[in-house]
Amino acid sequence: MKILGIETSCDETAAAVVEDGSKLLSNVIASSAPLHTAYGGIVPEIAARSHIESINPVISQALQDAGCDWDKIDGIAVTYGPGLGGSLLVGVLAARTLAIMRDKPLYAVNHVQAHVFASFLDKASLSLANDYSLPRARPKFPLLALIVSGGHTQLVLFEDFFKYKVLGRTRDDACGEAFDKVAKMLGFPYPGGPSIEKLAKSGDENRFHFPKARLENRYDFSYSGLKTAVLRTAQDTIGEDYTFPSHELAGRLSQEQKADIAAGFTKTAIEILVDKTAQAYEEFSPKSVVVAGGVSASPELRKQMAKRLPIEPCFPDIKLCTDNGAMIAAAGQFLAETGKTADPEELDIAPNLKM
Ligand code: KG4
Ligand code: ZN
Repeated sequence: MKILGIETSCDETAAAVVEDGSKLLSNVIASSAPLHTAYGGIVPEIAARSHIESINPVISQALQDAGCDWDKIDGIAVTYGPGLGGSLLVGVLAARTLAIMRDKPLYAVNHVQAHVFASFLDKASLSLANDYSLPRARPKFPLLALIVSGGHTQLVLFEDFFKYKVLGRTRDDACGEAFDKVAKMLGFPYPGGPSIEKLAKSGDENRFHFPKARLENRYDFSYSGLKTAVLRTAQDTIGEDYTFPSHELAGRLSQEQKADIAAGFTKTAIEILVDKTAQAYEEFSPKSVVVAGGVSASPELRKQMAKRLPIEPCFPDIKLCTDNGAMIAAAGQFLAETGKTADPEELDIAPNLKM
């Protein structure tokens, strides 16, 4: 069964064709990220406009790369939430129109959950798979998932694809969001995760110590205090008090100070993720651990998680960590297997959709 997956929840216009929920036939991504750089974050109107321009060419390319015409496509999966309203609307309207025109079943996908399904794409004997580092076998249930992106940080225990329990989630900022905000403070453009990690490599992670929040539910997360602690440390380092504006910090900090702050922050941010995942592993003894979402691209997170867990954690290929259509297509397959179709005349967006 071949599913076309469409993703437009944030700044990536993406489409992919996946066979049987595991074989990657094509994966096309057009990002509007460079257009947002100057603003230090995503501008929803720019993202939506960019989706409108890219959606048709991206879908056509995904079909062409997969060597598929419409006859070979068995269904269309689309992200309907959570995400930016204007962005979601472009993907959902495109998918609904195509489902009606081409007479295909439509599958409505929760974006956050789909990040976990990126780990179900495995090494099939297909040429495209050679460009990706994919696992040889699928993860097994019960499955513990750490979903960690720019918008979400949560630990979820899956008994099956759509049967799960959220063990904890962030009470304030997401982990990726904290990386992006610290990056902005140190003078780097959005998305900040990769630049912070690169800078951290040359820094001393023990020069500054940052706090970890204690929360009532031990599987909940909080990154807002850490972000503020980084701000205070940076102000302190240049001899200023808490009134010093954060956007002027980058110009006053030396390269060494920035690197030490980045290193201390990265160490703490990642330790929090690893500590909670290891605790949940001990309590629930899952058969697999999947780490998903944009922050799962972090080499430091990959290293620390592998060190701490007694089983090998599953990380998607780097190209499948950030937003893509392949994870949406995989989710569509699993929805198809449970018979959960959406009405192409009715499907609405759900910007605040939760797991
Ligand atoms: O999943 P994603 O593409 O979009 C959301 O659904 O949010 O995740 C993007 C997030 C950004 O916050 C970005 O800074 C973070 O993932 N990220 C990283 C790394 N690469 C991307 N964070 C830490 N280290 C990285 N190497
Ligand atoms: Zn995402």
